[in-house]
Amino acid sequence: MSEDADAPPPGALVAPAAARNRDPILSVLRRVLPPAGLVLEVASGTGEHAVHMARALPGATWLPSDPDPQARTSIAAWRARAGLPNLEPPIALDAAAPNWPVARADAVVSINMIHIAPWEAGLGLMAGAGRLLPPGGPLVLYGPFNLEGRFTAPSNAEFDASLKARDPRFGIRDVAEVRAAAAARGLSLAERIEMPANNMILVFHRDA
Ligand SMILES: C[S@@+](CC[C@H](N)C(=O)[O-])C[C@H]1O[C@@H](n2cnc3c(N)ncnc32)[C@H](O)[C@@H]1O
Repeated sequence: MSEDADAPPPGALVAPAAARNRDPILSVLRRVLPPAGLVLEVASGTGEHAVHMARALPGATWLPSDPDPQARTSIAAWRARAGLPNLEPPIALDAAAPNWPVARADAVVSINMIHIAPWEAGLGLMAGAGRLLPPGGPLVLYGPFNLEGRFTAPSNAEFDASLKARDPRFGIRDVAEVRAAAAARGLSLAERIEMPANNMILVFHRDA
């Protein structure tokens, strides 16, 4: 039996949304990431974004992470298939932990995490980025966000209800709340970019 080259490798997970959002996210990353350096991805999930971004951004060294062992198995499987020299093995990283197993990064990226985790993970993400980044270094968040306490689309309200049914600590965060929490951790909101399917990218810069 010959292996189907298009099928996911053993252990690899597939998130259908990743195929839809990876290029719009990439087009923003091309502009807002430094041209070279270490990019720490927090909550890499399946690892599909990590492969896509590392392939498209050869100047970056992409470091994927996730606290979930099944996710790390998936990331490792996609990484082995891709064979990219600038894609590091995944590390175990819980954003909420006070100490992270990485000392510095030139940029931090997190896609679809802070609404699908307790708020402590979002606070930890901002605290960690504040510790690791150099002055001016970017923290890039992608996902759905509210504006002035309001959902930006009915589908986001439905999504928020489904998240809270899963875990009452989950839910779509408000841009103002995220901005204030980041500011308290040495990160200033530099840009808010509207993305397809009622998502946004928030770009923060580490204060000098
Ligand atoms: C919806 S998935 C998103 C995965 C991927 N970034 C994507 O967009 O396909 C949420 C991810 O957040 C991770 N996660 C949950 N709590 C976390 C935490 N405290 N620190 C870091 N990652 C966390 C989960 O393990 C999961 O992989």
